Amino acid sequence: MLSENMVRKINEQIIVEHESSNLYLQMSAWCAVHGLAGAAAFLKAHAEEERMHMLKFFDYLLETGNMALLGPAEQPKHEYESLEAMFTQILNHERFVTGKINELVALAYEDKDYATLNFLQWFVAEQREEESLFSSILDKIKMIAPDGRGLYFVDRELAQAAAAPPQPEA
Ligand code: FEO
Repeated sequence: MLSENMVRKINEQIIVEHESSNLYLQMSAWCAVHGLAGAAAFLKAHAEEERMHMLKFFDYLLETGNMALLGPAEQPKHEYESLEAMFTQILNHERFVTGKINELVALAYEDKDYATLNFLQWFVAEQREEESLFSSILDKIKMIAPDGRGLYFVDRELAQAAAAPPQPEA
């Protein structure tokens, strides 16, 4: 059985994942209007992944006999200085999300809620993958994107990544 505190924290996480999805979809719009079709496709696909994360938490609350709540989502920022500034924000955002997942894990330990602890393991692995993915993209952007030609290659690579997204661990 989930503690009241756990239900409240998972409902907060539903909002975090929903806001992540909105943030990446909004970023994909910025990329699209700045001629970065590959980055736009990549971020749009990632917005869908975040929606899937939100649904996992949503379904978990319902499966355990609790009410899932869709809270208000913040309007995401829609202006960026550069692709590098955008991916810096993404990496920082993912680090923030990892912190939120770690808080849930800590609470599951405190509650001796081993079923939720088990459920959260997927997210622990997913956050590790996402931080590593965004960190490597940011490194590439820093390395080759300052001139227009480099940006073209980064965008082409992101288009390929969008066409074959990494499969989350089962
Ligand atoms: Fe759902 Fe990218 O964290």
